[in-house]
Amino acid sequence: MTDAPKLGFGPFAAPARGVLIVFCDDGVKFGSATAKALGSATGLVARAAKAERFTGRSGSSLDLIVPEGLKVARLVVIGAGKTSALEEKDFLKLGGLAMGKVPVSAAETTVFADLPDGPLEPEQAADLAQGIRLRAYAFDRYKTKRGDEDKSPEKRSITVAVGDVGAVRKAFDGREAIAGGVLMARDLVNEPANVLYPEEFARRTAVLKKAGVAVEVLDMKAMKKLGMNALLGVGQGSERESRVVVMRWNGGKKSDAPVAFIGKGVCFDTGGISIKPASGMEDMKGDMAGAACVVGLMQALAARKAKVNAVGLIGLVENMPDGNAQRPGDIVKSMSGQTIEIINTDAEGRLVLADVIWYAAQRFKPKFMIDLATLTGAIIVALGQEFAGMFANNDELAERLSKSGEATGEKVWRMPLAPEYDKMIDSRFADVKNTGGSRWAGAITAAQFIKRFVDDKIPWAHLDIAGTGFDSRQNDINRSWGSGWGVRLLDRLVRDYYER
Ligand code: BES
Ligand code: MN
Ligand code: ZN
Repeated sequence: MTDAPKLGFGPFAAPARGVLIVFCDDGVKFGSATAKALGSATGLVARAAKAERFTGRSGSSLDLIVPEGLKVARLVVIGAGKTSALEEKDFLKLGGLAMGKVPVSAAETTVFADLPDGPLEPEQAADLAQGIRLRAYAFDRYKTKRGDEDKSPEKRSITVAVGDVGAVRKAFDGREAIAGGVLMARDLVNEPANVLYPEEFARRTAVLKKAGVAVEVLDMKAMKKLGMNALLGVGQGSERESRVVVMRWNGGKKSDAPVAFIGKGVCFDTGGISIKPASGMEDMKGDMAGAACVVGLMQALAARKAKVNAVGLIGLVENMPDGNAQRPGDIVKSMSGQTIEIINTDAEGRLVLADVIWYAAQRFKPKFMIDLATLTGAIIVALGQEFAGMFANNDELAERLSKSGEATGEKVWRMPLAPEYDKMIDSRFADVKNTGGSRWAGAITAAQFIKRFVDDKIPWAHLDIAGTGFDSRQNDINRSWGSGWGVRLLDRLVRDYYER
């Protein structure tokens, strides 16, 4: 195991040791602070670039070991490509790329936040630093054998050299809070289900109290009293008890209605009696990625003292086959009073959401509600892992989510809701059935089911994150499986549109 390196800021100065990482554009041009630090090594860099056919294309890099004219042991030049219109997600990526070029053996690394146009703006440098943070995360707590980490020094530090240290530190405060939320969400998603079952998940949300979040846990008795039978039916085949956690952050005006976030927290989804095939079932430890995002988001909002009232609610269950498990054909009465015929016990997430969304609306009368759920394989068929599916009963909310997605790189694509799909979930025996009965439009009928538990007077969006909540591929800002997807998106939504 290697600890994440310590991250700090300092003024531009040629470092006397360690690794120096600098950026150039697609003409291999440097900013003036960088050019000054390179000094007499400038010619060497140009020759190396030519020899390697390095052109500064975005994402490419050039490594020079013990470069003549510099005191550092290694110089890394990273291409930023065209630098005229870089935004938040691009600076995150540059930070991630830089972190990716830090060798395990490096004790001290200096990253120059400088481009041909000049030093990065404080906000941009803070985004870059956030990218470093996100990339440096590793989930290795269950690795007992060391790989090449034995080359790793006791302490590792990364200094981001910037124009205005004070201003960047200030801008980084909020980014650090958000990164903390992302990493918390990743930890929860990566954790195996034998460790992270509903009660343990609920216990772990207690750390949010330190940031000023009120945390309340509903136990079996409380949920039964509220009539959350749709949620309880999912958990009834498990040895583990179900839980609902309510988190509240009050950073806004007292009289302001809160914004509400609701997460699917299926700690493990075997499918229940409608059991899933064995292949790939291990991924279903991540079927609580929606809940993890809500927890990470609440942590982020509180840690950066967001000027908003926000509530986060998560439904925590384990979906297991058992002598006491729910059967296909069973009919349950949800908290809303609507009855649900269970057609497939593997369509469990919508059952959990039905009760938690209903409860959230009744109790908090929120300004809007957004639910996140690894809900359907069908959304992966439609959108792959690049976009989350978005369903909404309100165009303004949908538009704002799309914009926040573009800015952060956590992108959403709007999918339809319509009465024609709604008909597909009418039940012969109850008010509604939990699947459309066909694989066609599987993500839409799931959203249509949830909509039956939403009061249309409240703007609502459902994000199907089955494709984005966890990811076996690695990208520039995440090397782990759990992605923490949605924390940055929703933080940005709140920041841009709902803070006073
Ligand atoms: N948790 C799954 C959806 C899922 C699949 C998430 C792959 C992440 C990756 C969900 O509970 C489920 O099983 N959905 C079924 C619904 C079907 C039975 C109507 C599905 O998508 O097959
Ligand atoms: Mn399922
Ligand atoms: Zn599921």
